[in-house]
Amino acid sequence: MGSAAASTLPASAGSGENLVLILDYGSQYTHLITRRVRQLGVLSLCVSGTAPLSSLEGLRPRAVVLSGGPHSVHAPGAPAFPEGFLDFAAGAGAHVLGVCYGMQLLVQSLGGAVEPGQRQEYGKMEVQVTAPSSALYGEAGAGKRQTVWMSHGDEVVRMPEGFEVVARSVQGAVAAIENRERRFYGLQYHPEVTHSPEGMETLRHFLFDVCGIKADWKMQDVLDEEIKTIQSMVGPDEHVICALSGGVDSTVAATLVHKAIGDRLHCVFVDNGLLRYKERERVMSTFESDLHLPVTCVDASEQFLSKLKGVEDPEQKRKIIGREFIAVFDDFAHKLEQKIGKRPEYLVQGTLYPDVIESCPPPGSGRTHSHTIKSHHNVGGLPKDMKLKLIEPLKLLFKDEVRKLGSILNVPDSFLKRHPFPGPGLAVRVLGDVTQGNALEVLRQVDEIFVQAIKDAGLYDKIWQAFAVFLPVQTVGVQGDQRTHSNAVVLRAITSEDGMTADWYYFGHEFLVDVVNKICNNVRGINRVCQDITSKPPATVEWE
Ligand code: XMP
Repeated sequence: MGSAAASTLPASAGSGENLVLILDYGSQYTHLITRRVRQLGVLSLCVSGTAPLSSLEGLRPRAVVLSGGPHSVHAPGAPAFPEGFLDFAAGAGAHVLGVCYGMQLLVQSLGGAVEPGQRQEYGKMEVQVTAPSSALYGEAGAGKRQTVWMSHGDEVVRMPEGFEVVARSVQGAVAAIENRERRFYGLQYHPEVTHSPEGMETLRHFLFDVCGIKADWKMQDVLDEEIKTIQSMVGPDEHVICALSGGVDSTVAATLVHKAIGDRLHCVFVDNGLLRYKERERVMSTFESDLHLPVTCVDASEQFLSKLKGVEDPEQKRKIIGREFIAVFDDFAHKLEQKIGKRPEYLVQGTLYPDVIESCPPPGSGRTHSHTIKSHHNVGGLPKDMKLKLIEPLKLLFKDEVRKLGSILNVPDSFLKRHPFPGPGLAVRVLGDVTQGNALEVLRQVDEIFVQAIKDAGLYDKIWQAFAVFLPVQTVGVQGDQRTHSNAVVLRAITSEDGMTADWYYFGHEFLVDVVNKICNNVRGINRVCQDITSKPPATVEWE
């Protein structure tokens, strides 16, 4: 959301003096560049690389990074700069760094030439700094070699006027370029990935030494600014509601808003019958005793489960759950109005930055930017007639930043480090009809044993998400000399940066033997345990 980026620029970013703008050209690493810059203490905002220039209005970035992307600059419909971008950058006095596709776009737009490379370079490569003195590597870098992560089919074959090649790959391809006078720079590799071990240092040097940016973006300032913003937005006798899921985002968002407006915040926790083992008790006691947040618990399990009875289609299940959430929520707001004599005006949502970033869609996909914004799924959508205004205090933050903010707000680690849990809950983990037999109860027990075993083994924080899935199939087994015909479950544990891609976690033999024994010995109705060893892609994290 280009315009959203501009309009939501927090005051803590000052006049944008130390702002870095990332223009997204569709690379899977674009978010990573944004995060790396923030890790260096500098606010960065990510906008679509082809959004109209008007959406950047009011921003005066000190640096603009043009991301990589899967395209060739010669492909029909390949993404190009917003019209007038180069003048905009010059007018703002910004330094422009093109990365991979971003560098090729810069070269082509300024009159150089990019052609399909004779050597396609993918993966780890050696590059050597060839210029005796360069802005990107400094004098100290001259002649040095480093390992970097390359991923390009095209290569730069003719430089635009005023540019200099400052590094080449060992195969001779142009690896880094610059035009210091016009403040243009390019890297043919990805400095943002860990496979480029010196990449972070190159970014640091670029931002602080080349662009003269100051590291002035601090989580405490973000918190103070957000509190001020909420206090000035919500009138002195206006009320706010918030649906808590028990996850990190809604908990941190609610704690922050509570700090700003106190008990005019009314939280609701919905037991939809699809929660994990003892989830409701655990979450409610933490809200009360650790966070001192006033929360109303609504037991709507019967309501949800009766609507889900006999429904097998995953999308259908999601839709029903979304609708019921809205109904429960609407009812809560209505009762609240009767109690306090006032209709709540605002709704808090724990929307995160990745949900609002507008990514650059692949050319030819037929998608425009607005289509690629993910719908906010916190409570399955908002009731139209509630006319609530949104408070989204985390919408400029990534998950790891939300955890930092939560820790400043004294949200306990048990919350901050929890694995993500999907909105539709166990409904996407009992395949088919969630009300079949005692599937939900069996799944809760298996899941609890598995996750507890992971905690006991000290592995919980190494794993991004771990859970069990109930399969609606029966298999033959033998237990205590008896033939059994019982259900099978699947264990899934993955590592991931953000849930967009994932690898399965490799447990040692001993751990698996132990956990399978515990499950088969303690959970009635299960005689077979499998492990899902598929990465994402081709699979997804959840089974439905
Ligand atoms: P998938 O299964 O899409 O999951 O690879 C990626 C991440 O998103 C979570 N997930 C959901 N979260 N509502 C949510 O709030 C949903 O419908 C939903 N589906 C998947 C999933 O747990 C994983 O962390």
